[in-house]
Amino acid sequence: EKRAKQAMQKAHQLVSQLYHYVLTETPYGVEAMKYLERRGVSRQTIAEFQIGFAPDSWDFVTQFLAKRQFSQELMVEAGLLAKSDGGKVFDRFRGRIMFPIHDTQGNVIGFGGRLLDGSKPKSQPKYLNSPESLLFNKSATLFNLHRARPYIRKRKQALLFEGYVDVISAWQAGFPQGIATLGTALTEQQAKMIRRNVDSVVLCYDGDHAGQEATSKASRILQQAGLIVRVAPLPQGVDPDEYIRQHGVEAFSQQVLLQAMPITAFRLKHLRSQIVIHDETDKARLIAKAVEIINELKSPVERDMYLRQLADEYSLSLSDLKWESKRVYKQQK
Ligand code: UTP
Ligand code: MN
Ligand code: MN
Ligand code: MN
Ligand code: MN
Repeated sequence: EKRAKQAMQKAHQLVSQLYHYVLTETPYGVEAMKYLERRGVSRQTIAEFQIGFAPDSWDFVTQFLAKRQFSQELMVEAGLLAKSDGGKVFDRFRGRIMFPIHDTQGNVIGFGGRLLDGSKPKSQPKYLNSPESLLFNKSATLFNLHRARPYIRKRKQALLFEGYVDVISAWQAGFPQGIATLGTALTEQQAKMIRRNVDSVVLCYDGDHAGQEATSKASRILQQAGLIVRVAPLPQGVDPDEYIRQHGVEAFSQQVLLQAMPITAFRLKHLRSQIVIHDETDKARLIAKAVEIINELKSPVERDMYLRQLADEYSLSLSDLKWESKRVYKQQK
């Protein structure tokens, strides 16, 4: 098993160099290079992240690995190659921009591959990731952690993004402490990995419904791991990469990162945007839900602060609100 793992490791290292070479030095990479340029990814960033391109071929990597005596069976298991139902082996990644994924020691253990816009029928997923293997355990891996770790420690803060490109954009903009999950929900294990390096996380998920849902879920897991969680507000429909490109680095720093708010404030804000208030019944419903969120706080001091804010905002008496809080609490249990 150890030998198999070593071979998978070696193959990933070689193939990631190959993809990078194809992108930067060959005619097969020209279109992808142009695409990255249009997205504002610099040559330096391409080099730093070892971004590559998998040519649109069924056997480019298959041949490359065969020449180097790697077992096909093992390479299928490692997810560099794939096998059809009929038993035919072929390149798993074709016509995709390749983002290598590393373990904490900096070894390549997998890839995220992105289609060029408009290049393939819609049936193909935009991002294709390496499958789980002996080498690649998605729930115990964070994109860019090996590179970001010293910065996370120095700045005493990690920035958690949804996408590879968001991490890369932030890096290029001067925020090297960014990491991301691998297209899956944040796990307890990943939260513990973050906690080993720092005690504070800023969540910078996409400004859409999916991003908000993921923020709620991730924040619970991060808090349970003992992390202080803040949420960076992004405008509706915009992700961090888009924000940086539209508004620039300065705005991202001032209007997004520095505006990061405690998770309770974020959830209350989200709640207000979800419930349309026509009359007193709607308002009462919103307040009951807000109280439910506030009740989840362990600290009575914090609970009191949020209840006071809520009382001010909706012109309620604090004592009524505290009574409501007790009523809701009984129902919550
Ligand atoms: P997003 O859907 O937010 O990516 O997925 P995006 O911002 O549109 O992508 P770009 O900017 O156009 O390149 C965020 C992350 O979710 C995973 C990937 O890890 C991606 O980085 N994902 C997304 C998948 O695994 N598969 C998909 O088909 C899409
Ligand atoms: Mn998307
Ligand atoms: Mn998204
Ligand atoms: Mn996105
Ligand atoms: Mn994006």
